[in-house]
Amino acid sequence: MNHKSTTLLFFSPTATTRTVLEKIAQGMGKPVAEVIDITRPDIRNRPVPDLTDQVLLIGAPVYAGRLPKVAADYFKNLKSSGTPAIPLVLYGNREFEDALLELKDILDRAGFSSVAAGAFIGEHSFSTEDFKIATDRPDNRDLERAYAFGQKISTLMETAEKADDLASFDVPGNFPYRERKKMGPVEFIEVSDECDECSTCVAVCPVNAIDKTKGYATLDPICIHCCACIKACPRGARIMKEGPFKDITRWLFDNYTARKEPQVFFPGSAGPRE
Ligand SMILES: Cc1cc2nc3c(=O)[nH]c(=O)nc-3n(C[C@H](O)[C@H](O)[C@H](O)COP(=O)(O)O)c2cc1C
Repeated sequence: MNHKSTTLLFFSPTATTRTVLEKIAQGMGKPVAEVIDITRPDIRNRPVPDLTDQVLLIGAPVYAGRLPKVAADYFKNLKSSGTPAIPLVLYGNREFEDALLELKDILDRAGFSSVAAGAFIGEHSFSTEDFKIATDRPDNRDLERAYAFGQKISTLMETAEKADDLASFDVPGNFPYRERKKMGPVEFIEVSDECDECSTCVAVCPVNAIDKTKGYATLDPICIHCCACIKACPRGARIMKEGPFKDITRWLFDNYTARKEPQVFFPGSAGPRE
């Protein structure tokens, strides 16, 4: 089976998912036909792309052991008849729990043939200067592994006659999946006097939750707590307040800073491989 090009499809508010997918695509060694970044809401309203004759690299972050609902809802609209796909999740060095299984299940149900899968580590969205969690990941070591994984996928696909021959392997996770956590309403972001109203936060928000007319406040029921606005603010004017999110951040810092390594899965991989 020889694939001509790869399509990248991802939801990635703080860009770690994107970075890893791009590196895997490089390792696969074929041209990237299309990059579909569904992080911004306007893109998610466009028709779902036709992925015939592509290999799909598809990824999202782990939110409370699941896919972010906004990404899962989009992915559920995809359809295929046998397009090879590689489901990937990025997690912040705690656990990925049911997220990879959830993504693989969505793809399998939509008619894709998952030929390999992976869980990589990205800087935790809640990581701050004071409480660093997986800071600067994916780092060079992760990216070397991502590249090598891409090469491995290419070899697997070249040696298989059709995607179906590769489509039988398991990934960790449980069904029924972990129940989605309801974290709101929690006003967890404070806007300091440093804000110069540049609107970078508005531009990066995946759900249009920032209201310019109210001092760039975050609209609570809409916010998905991705922290893209905090990380993107050029003046550091958006700050995580004391409260439940800061408490979670401290708990992560106390318990989940020991380095975890990427895990990849493919037919014949008996379990987690580096
Ligand atoms: C609301 C929320 C929940 C999260 N839940 C988890 C989790 O359950 N386990 C984990 O290890 N990381 C968790 N993370 C961290 C992200 O999965 C991680 O930072 C990821 O690399 C972000 O991907 P992105 O850069 O593509 O947005 C969570 C982040 C957010 C914003």
